Amino acid sequence: MAQLWGGRFTKETDQLVYNFNASISFDKKFYEQDIRGSIAHVTMLAKQKILTEDEKNQIIEGLEGIRSDVERGVLEITDKYEDIHSFVEANLIDRIGDAGKKLHTGRSRNDQVALDMKLYTRDEILELDRLLKELLEVLLRLMKENTETYMPGFTHLQKAQPITLAHHLGAYFEMFKRDRSRMKDIYNRMNYCPLGSGALAGTTYPLDREYTAELMEFAGPTMNSMDSVSDRDYLIELLSAMSTVMMHLSRFSEEVIIWNSNEYQFVEIDDAYSTGSSIMPQKKNPDIAELVRGKTGRVYGALMSLLTTMKGIPLAYNKDMQEDKELVFDAIDTTKGCLALFTGMINTIRFQKKRMEDSAKNGFTNATDAADYLVNHGVPFRDAHGIVGQLVLHCIEKNIALDDMTLEEYKAISPVFEEDIYDAISMKTCVEMRNTTGAPGKSAMGDVIMAYDMYLNVE
Ligand code: ARG
Repeated sequence: MAQLWGGRFTKETDQLVYNFNASISFDKKFYEQDIRGSIAHVTMLAKQKILTEDEKNQIIEGLEGIRSDVERGVLEITDKYEDIHSFVEANLIDRIGDAGKKLHTGRSRNDQVALDMKLYTRDEILELDRLLKELLEVLLRLMKENTETYMPGFTHLQKAQPITLAHHLGAYFEMFKRDRSRMKDIYNRMNYCPLGSGALAGTTYPLDREYTAELMEFAGPTMNSMDSVSDRDYLIELLSAMSTVMMHLSRFSEEVIIWNSNEYQFVEIDDAYSTGSSIMPQKKNPDIAELVRGKTGRVYGALMSLLTTMKGIPLAYNKDMQEDKELVFDAIDTTKGCLALFTGMINTIRFQKKRMEDSAKNGFTNATDAADYLVNHGVPFRDAHGIVGQLVLHCIEKNIALDDMTLEEYKAISPVFEEDIYDAISMKTCVEMRNTTGAPGKSAMGDVIMAYDMYLNVE
């Protein structure tokens, strides 16, 4: 047991208590951030003449030594220490002696851990954003290739109207674009440095908090020391934003699973992203999509968990907050893993374009357009709706599509129909006629694709 606070105690901590209290098994993940923060802290302490230049140099050299020894695997972070802060400080004192004992001047583990967690998540937010951008790049490529790939659009999972694959994928582009903007918002809101808040009430040393913040590229220092050591809002926001990413990935996964089913066969998942069955030789399962869908629950769970942990905590720091780490680390790793795998799967998936178009035709997705044809020839919409209903019934009885009816059959139901009905209800026309902003028509889609190109080039 190596702890930083033995002085006022007369008895050793019970081993079970020690284990229960310790956080080293998971906060060792941010040793690099802890050292980065300590280097900034002592640089500021020396500028303020609280430490001498020599002490600062010794400390920084010692900290850099610890960092490189950990990186090279020469120094192991073991559970002999209570937490990562104790590990770094104890090792520093071992290395450089008395100067090391000055590292913690004007600092508490409360502002230190708040800083470490911010430094850690700040980098991870950028990484999440990069992964989202990679997914958007794949989606945009597929959109460009599929502005004339016709397929049924669904409501209630019933075929509704014809759309294109580009349009369908564009819906997900919008979702993941919003996810990126949420990441950016969170980053901007959280990017204030808590270091220098002390345990809760600031400190009597003349710290230059603006300078420390600047050294670590924060927008500035936080403005209330009690809030600084007990604010976990940004983690809740991040868990919420990651839950939304996962929800989007899960919806998309569900569609891939449906599209990949024997009944649909809209897509074929690449062998590299599928798995087989130990008993059924014919099987090729969409396990990656299913796992992404399944792992969504873990991320939601982390959000609920931290909200619940935080709800009853009085100001300022309380140990409950240590519970933030495992949840957030796991949720970040899960979301990043899912994003990377999902992007790889979508990047290699094959779309069965003919199946998709046939499915749109055979599902009467052009029925609304047949009604619109009648309306354009002077038939009131309600009557047109009824006439097309009769056409559909006729087709169902004969097991054919609207496109397969002869002109005589059309005319038998309404004399208004002429030869040009076939063109009016072709998939191409049905989609092409829909050119309102955001619609699947080629020219509307072209504008959107151009805007997405610009967006990806800028951000
Ligand atoms: N391991 C602690 C945490 O994660 C670090 C802060 C400890 N502070 C304290 N006063 N015990 O929150």
